[in-house]
Amino acid sequence: MPYGGGPRLCAGSELAKLEMAIFLHHLVLNFRWELAEPDQAFVYPFVDFPKGLPIRVQRIADEHSVLTGSTV
Ligand code: HEM
Repeated sequence: MPYGGGPRLCAGSELAKLEMAIFLHHLVLNFRWELAEPDQAFVYPFVDFPKGLPIRVQRIADEHSVLTGSTV
């Protein structure tokens, strides 16, 4: 993720990474997801996907969300 590479850096980069980690935590625990269409990663100038890696998401009522009452 590009947070600036020159003399100035993003002041919120650690907060942004924490938010992404929390989002991914809830995504993998509470949702089933699959690729909506094939996409091929490229790595230059940074890792990205031409189509943005679209996914299809479906909520699952698993043990974790039942125990915590989580709705996210
Ligand atoms: C994925 C999320 C984020 C990305 C990719 C990102 C990226 C960037 C980039 C590229 C810059 C410019 C660096 C430069 O001037 O060369 C910047 C600056 C900045 N960002 Fe972020 N940012 C993100 C999230 C956040 C968050 C969540 C906050 C605060 C809550 C934040 C606060 C700032 C501030 C205050 C600056 C200006 C820093 C300065 O001028 O010294 N950013 N960010």
